[in-house]
Amino acid sequence: MNGEDKVALVTGAARGIGLAAARKFLAEGWRCALLDIDGETLAAAMRAIAQPECTLALICDVAAPDQTAAAVATLTRRFGRLDALVNNAGVAVFKPALETTFEEWTRVLAVNLGGPFLMTQLCAPLLAATGGAVVNITSISGQRASTLRVAYGASKAALSHLTKQFAAELGELGVRVNAVAPGPVDTAMAKQVHTPAIRADYHDAIPLNRYGREEEIAEAIFFLASERASYITGETLACDGGFAAAGIGLPTLRGQGRS
Ligand SMILES: NC(=O)c1ccc[n+]([C@@H]2O[C@H](COP(=O)([O-])OP(=O)(O)OC[C@H]3O[C@@H](n4cnc5c(N)ncnc54)[C@H](O)[C@@H]3O)[C@@H](O)[C@H]2O)c1
Repeated sequence: MNGEDKVALVTGAARGIGLAAARKFLAEGWRCALLDIDGETLAAAMRAIAQPECTLALICDVAAPDQTAAAVATLTRRFGRLDALVNNAGVAVFKPALETTFEEWTRVLAVNLGGPFLMTQLCAPLLAATGGAVVNITSISGQRASTLRVAYGASKAALSHLTKQFAAELGELGVRVNAVAPGPVDTAMAKQVHTPAIRADYHDAIPLNRYGREEEIAEAIFFLASERASYITGETLACDGGFAAAGIGLPTLRGQGRS
């Protein structure tokens, strides 16, 4: 497939799901701006991609209004258009609710919710000009509560609703706004916080019985950003191996199925 002259902007693109999404857009023939707060990792990603003619690196904190405005201005000068914004940059503080500091709460909300708010406001005029789309990356932690996720889960649940809020208003401009809610994916973020015991718990709760791959999340992101999803807006698509769909009894039933 050929994206012709289409342009995507992916935040948190230096590694993990964001980098996989950027690679997917490039593979489909789009040009892509990769935005990240971590300049060193972003530079390594740019070297690995090695397509300078159709990529742009933007070092930026999505929670800083002046930096986001400068980044979108740089993108506009370089590419002159935008067809998809992927709000993927996110941070996780996994701590008991009563031990989470207000500073931690504020930072998680600022990056995971404030970032998409700022980026969507800034990019809306560019997206309106192309009939483009926004894809926000939420989480299963925003759909069902779990331990240690008071700030992270609240930020992702709010991002799912922000998706609907923007969809309600930007539809009139021809801009679709959707979200992908990944289940556990084996990225650096997951490696940092998922102990072997937590991994076993996840496997027990997922009908497909495995973690997701970054490339599988990238497929869902690309679908929602593309013309193929032209009548879908305000939706959060679970990409989670069935986690959100399933209830109790999976491990027991699996055991019976095996016997
Ligand atoms: N990995 C999972 O299991 C999982 C599950 C559900 C949802 N998610 C969500 O998917 C998204 C990507 O997760 P990942 O696992 O690839 O994470 P990751 O930590 O591997 O990558 C996140 C990237 O975002 C960047 N980033 C962090 N704060 C930023 C900021 N303020 N401004 C700009 N960039 C910033 C980081 O530098 C990093 O490159 C996140 O929003 C995360 O919450 C991940």
